[in-house]
Amino acid sequence: MKRRNILCVLACSLATMPVIAQTTAAAPPAGRLLASNCFQCHGTNGSGGVEKIAGKSASEIVKELKEMQQKSPPKMMDMHARGYTDAEINQLANYLATLR
Ligand code: HEC
Repeated sequence: MKRRNILCVLACSLATMPVIAQTTAAAPPAGRLLASNCFQCHGTNGSGGVEKIAGKSASEIVKELKEMQQKSPPKMMDMHARGYTDAEINQLANYLATLR
Protein backbone atom coordinates (compact mmCIF):
# COMPACT_ATOMS: atom_id res chain seq x y z
CA MET A 1 0.00 0.00 0.00
CA LYS A 2 1.32 3.44 -0.91
CA ARG A 3 2.13 5.82 1.88
CA ARG A 4 -0.63 8.21 0.76
CA ASN A 5 -3.19 5.41 0.97
CA ILE A 6 -2.07 4.41 4.43
CA LEU A 7 -2.49 8.01 5.58
CA CYS A 8 -5.95 8.11 4.07
CA VAL A 9 -6.99 4.89 5.79
CA LEU A 10 -5.71 6.29 9.07
CA ALA A 11 -7.43 9.62 8.64
CA CYS A 12 -10.70 8.08 7.53
CA SER A 13 -10.84 5.57 10.34
CA LEU A 14 -10.08 8.28 12.90
CA ALA A 15 -12.81 10.45 11.44
CA THR A 16 -15.41 7.70 11.62
CA MET A 17 -14.35 6.39 15.00
CA PRO A 18 -17.40 6.51 17.23
CA VAL A 19 -17.16 9.23 19.79
CA ILE A 20 -16.93 7.61 23.17
CA ALA A 21 -19.37 9.41 25.40
CA GLN A 22 -17.66 11.01 28.34
CA THR A 23 -20.37 10.05 30.77
CA THR A 24 -19.49 8.92 34.22
CA ALA A 25 -22.05 6.47 35.53
CA ALA A 26 -24.26 8.29 38.01
CA ALA A 27 -24.08 6.79 41.47
CA PRO A 28 -27.18 4.68 42.17
CA PRO A 29 -29.60 6.21 44.66
CA ALA A 30 -28.69 5.50 48.28
CA GLY A 31 -30.35 2.33 49.51
CA ARG A 32 -30.98 0.83 46.09
CA LEU A 33 -28.26 -1.77 46.38
CA LEU A 34 -29.51 -2.82 49.80
CA ALA A 35 -33.09 -2.89 48.56
CA SER A 36 -32.23 -5.03 45.55
CA ASN A 37 -31.92 -7.92 47.99
CA CYS A 38 -35.56 -7.47 49.03
CA PHE A 39 -36.72 -7.74 45.44
CA GLN A 40 -35.83 -11.43 45.22
CA CYS A 41 -38.82 -12.28 47.38
CA HIS A 42 -40.93 -9.14 47.16
CA GLY A 43 -40.70 -8.80 43.39
CA THR A 44 -38.85 -6.35 41.18
CA ASN A 45 -39.06 -2.89 42.73
CA GLY A 46 -41.06 -4.27 45.62
CA SER A 47 -44.17 -5.65 43.97
CA GLY A 48 -45.22 -8.85 42.28
CA GLY A 49 -43.67 -11.06 44.97
CA VAL A 50 -44.68 -12.41 48.38
CA GLU A 51 -45.96 -9.15 49.88
CA LYS A 52 -46.01 -5.76 48.19
CA ILE A 53 -43.51 -3.48 49.92
CA ALA A 54 -43.53 -0.72 47.29
CA GLY A 55 -45.87 2.13 48.16
CA LYS A 56 -45.28 1.98 51.89
CA SER A 57 -43.95 5.05 53.66
CA ALA A 58 -40.38 5.05 54.96
CA SER A 59 -41.61 5.21 58.56
CA GLU A 60 -43.90 2.18 58.04
CA ILE A 61 -41.02 0.13 56.65
CA VAL A 62 -38.66 1.19 59.44
CA LYS A 63 -41.29 0.31 62.06
CA GLU A 64 -42.02 -3.10 60.53
CA LEU A 65 -38.35 -4.05 60.17
CA LYS A 66 -37.57 -2.94 63.75
CA GLU A 67 -40.48 -5.04 65.03
CA MET A 68 -39.28 -8.01 63.01
CA GLN A 69 -35.82 -7.69 64.55
CA GLN A 70 -37.42 -8.33 67.95
CA LYS A 71 -39.80 -11.17 67.00
CA SER A 72 -39.23 -14.43 68.76
CA PRO A 73 -39.07 -17.13 67.60
CA PRO A 74 -37.87 -15.46 64.41
CA LYS A 75 -39.34 -16.48 61.06
CA MET A 76 -37.63 -15.92 57.73
CA MET A 77 -38.32 -12.20 57.41
CA ASP A 78 -37.44 -11.64 61.07
CA MET A 79 -34.06 -13.28 60.57
CA HIS A 80 -33.56 -11.16 57.51
CA ALA A 81 -34.38 -7.92 59.33
CA ARG A 82 -31.87 -8.78 62.04
CA GLY A 83 -29.07 -8.51 59.49
CA TYR A 84 -29.41 -4.75 59.02
CA THR A 85 -28.08 -1.85 61.08
CA ASP A 86 -30.37 1.09 61.90
CA ALA A 87 -28.55 3.17 59.30
CA GLU A 88 -29.11 0.51 56.65
CA ILE A 89 -32.78 0.19 57.56
CA ASN A 90 -33.20 3.96 57.19
CA GLN A 91 -31.49 3.95 53.80
CA LEU A 92 -33.53 0.98 52.62
CA ALA A 93 -36.78 2.49 53.80
CA ASN A 94 -36.08 5.88 52.24
CA TYR A 95 -35.35 4.22 48.92
CA LEU A 96 -38.31 1.81 49.05
CA ALA A 97 -40.64 4.72 49.87
CA THR A 98 -39.81 6.25 46.46
CA LEU A 99 -41.23 3.18 44.67
CA ARG A 100 -44.89 2.83 43.75
C1 HEC B 1 -36.14 -14.66 51.49
C2 HEC B 1 -37.30 -13.90 51.09
C3 HEC B 1 -37.43 -12.49 51.59
C4 HEC B 1 -36.51 -11.47 51.47
C5 HEC B 1 -35.13 -11.51 50.84
C6 HEC B 1 -37.13 -10.31 52.05
N1 HEC B 1 -38.37 -10.61 52.50
FE1 HEC B 1 -39.66 -9.32 53.39
N2 HEC B 1 -41.01 -10.83 53.62
C7 HEC B 1 -40.83 -12.14 53.20
C8 HEC B 1 -41.99 -12.92 53.56
C9 HEC B 1 -42.16 -14.40 53.28
C10 HEC B 1 -42.87 -12.03 54.21
C11 HEC B 1 -44.24 -12.36 54.79
C12 HEC B 1 -44.14 -13.19 56.02
C13 HEC B 1 -43.61 -12.47 57.19
O1 HEC B 1 -44.04 -11.34 57.47
O2 HEC B 1 -42.75 -13.04 57.89
C14 HEC B 1 -42.23 -10.72 54.23
C15 HEC B 1 -42.79 -9.60 54.79
C16 HEC B 1 -42.23 -8.34 54.73
C17 HEC B 1 -42.85 -7.13 55.21
C18 HEC B 1 -44.22 -7.01 55.81
C19 HEC B 1 -45.20 -6.79 54.67
C20 HEC B 1 -46.61 -6.57 55.14
O3 HEC B 1 -47.32 -5.84 54.44
O4 HEC B 1 -46.97 -7.13 56.18
C21 HEC B 1 -41.97 -6.10 54.98
C22 HEC B 1 -42.17 -4.61 55.29
C23 HEC B 1 -40.81 -6.68 54.37
N3 HEC B 1 -40.99 -8.03 54.24
C24 HEC B 1 -39.72 -5.95 54.00
C25 HEC B 1 -38.58 -6.50 53.44
C26 HEC B 1 -37.41 -5.74 53.13
C27 HEC B 1 -37.26 -4.24 53.33
C28 HEC B 1 -36.51 -6.61 52.61
C29 HEC B 1 -35.09 -6.32 52.18
C30 HEC B 1 -34.24 -5.78 53.19
C31 HEC B 1 -37.12 -7.93 52.60
N4 HEC B 1 -38.38 -7.82 53.10
C32 HEC B 1 -36.52 -9.07 52.13
C33 HEC B 1 -39.75 -12.63 52.53
C34 HEC B 1 -38.60 -11.93 52.23
